[in-house]
Amino acid sequence: MNQPLQLPLIDMPTTHVFPSTRFQGSKRKIVDQIWENIRDLRFDTVLDIFGGTGAISYRAKQAGKTVIYNDNLVFNWNIGCALVENASVQLSDIEVETILQRHNDVDYPQFIQSTFANIYFTDEENRWLDTVVYNINHDLADTRKQALARFALFQACIIKRPYNLFHRANLYMRSAEVERSFGNKATWDTPFDVHFRNFAAEANAAIFDNGRKNIALNLDAMETPTGADLVYLDPPYLNAKGIGVDYRDFYHFLEGLVHYDSWDSMIDYRSRHRRLFPQASIWNNEKTIYEAFEALIERHRKSILVVSYRDDGIPSKAALVNLLKRYKSQVQVVNHLYKYALAKRSTNELLLIAQ
Ligand SMILES: C[S@@+](CC[C@H](N)C(=O)[O-])C[C@H]1O[C@@H](n2cnc3c(N)ncnc32)[C@H](O)[C@@H]1O
Repeated sequence: MNQPLQLPLIDMPTTHVFPSTRFQGSKRKIVDQIWENIRDLRFDTVLDIFGGTGAISYRAKQAGKTVIYNDNLVFNWNIGCALVENASVQLSDIEVETILQRHNDVDYPQFIQSTFANIYFTDEENRWLDTVVYNINHDLADTRKQALARFALFQACIIKRPYNLFHRANLYMRSAEVERSFGNKATWDTPFDVHFRNFAAEANAAIFDNGRKNIALNLDAMETPTGADLVYLDPPYLNAKGIGVDYRDFYHFLEGLVHYDSWDSMIDYRSRHRRLFPQASIWNNEKTIYEAFEALIERHRKSILVVSYRDDGIPSKAALVNLLKRYKSQVQVVNHLYKYALAKRSTNELLLIAQ
C-alpha cells in the first residue's frame, strides 16, 4: 500500500543556528518570543526593514518564508547577504587561512595602522585589520564569500571592544589597572585570528536553503518595496529624553571597513575617535521620529505590521497604538517581552501587531 506523502514541516528551528553577536539592539535573544506571537498569522513573505544582525529575517527564513532583509548601513547589508540571501555558499578552511595570511607579493595598505593608532586596537591588531580587509577584497571572487568573511570580521571587531562599540577612543581600557574588573579582558585580548575563525565557523554553520529566493537590500527605510504580507519594523530606539541610538555613529568603524578605499574621505578628522561625518536621521530626533513612523506605516499600510519598540520611548506606546489604529482594525499589544538586565531602570520591549 502506498504511504501518504509526508511533507517536511518547514517551521524548523533547524540544526542551523543563528550566530552569536554583540551588536546592540539585536533581537537574537528574544526572537523566539517574537516569533511565538506572529507565527500563526497568515503570511508568506516578510520584509524586515531595519534588519541589523538579521535575527528576525533568519527566523523567518527558518520558518520557510520568503524574506526581504533591509538595512541602510552597508556593513549590516553584508550580514544580510551572508546569512539571509545566501542559501549555499560557505567559506572553506583553505579560504579562511588564505585570508588570514600576509602574502609576500602584496604591498599592503596601512590605512588603519596610520589612522587609528591607539584608538581602538593595538598596532599589531591594526596591521592585522589592514591585511585581512585587503585579502577579503582581493582573494575572494564570490561576493557571498566576501560577505561571510566580513561577517566574521565585524563580529571579531565588536567582541574585542570595551562596550562592544566604537564611540570612544578607549583602547587604554583594555590594559588599565582600574578597569580590570570591567568587561572581559580575556575576550578583548584573544587574537583576531582566533575570533575570526570562530565566527567564520558559526557563519558557515548558519547557511541553509529554505527553498525560497530571499534577498538582502541596502535601502533607506522609506524606499523599501511595498507588497510583503508582513512587514517588521525595529527602528532605532529614541528614549524619553530624546537620546537615540545612532547605529552609523556607534559602528562607524565597521562601516569604514566596507568602504576601505574611500574611508579617508568619509572621516571627520576633528573627532578624536575618527568617526564618519555625521548624517542626520529622522529616526534620531524627537521632532521628526513620529512623522517617520507615520510615513513608514502609511507606506506599508496594506501589510500586516509588526513593530518592536520599548514602552518608555518617543513616541510613547499609546501614540504608536493610536497611529496603527488609523490604518488597522486590530492592534495587539504584547508587553514585557524582555527586561534589559543591564539598564539602570528596567525598560520593557514592546511588540505591536497590527492587521
Ligand atoms: C534596533 S536595530 C535592528 C536590530 C535587528 N532587528 C536585529 O535583530 O539585529 C535598528 C537597525 O536599523 C538600521 N537603520 C537605522 N536607520 C535606518 C534607515 N533610515 N533605514 C534603514 N535602516 C536603518 C540600523 O542600521 C540598525 O541596524
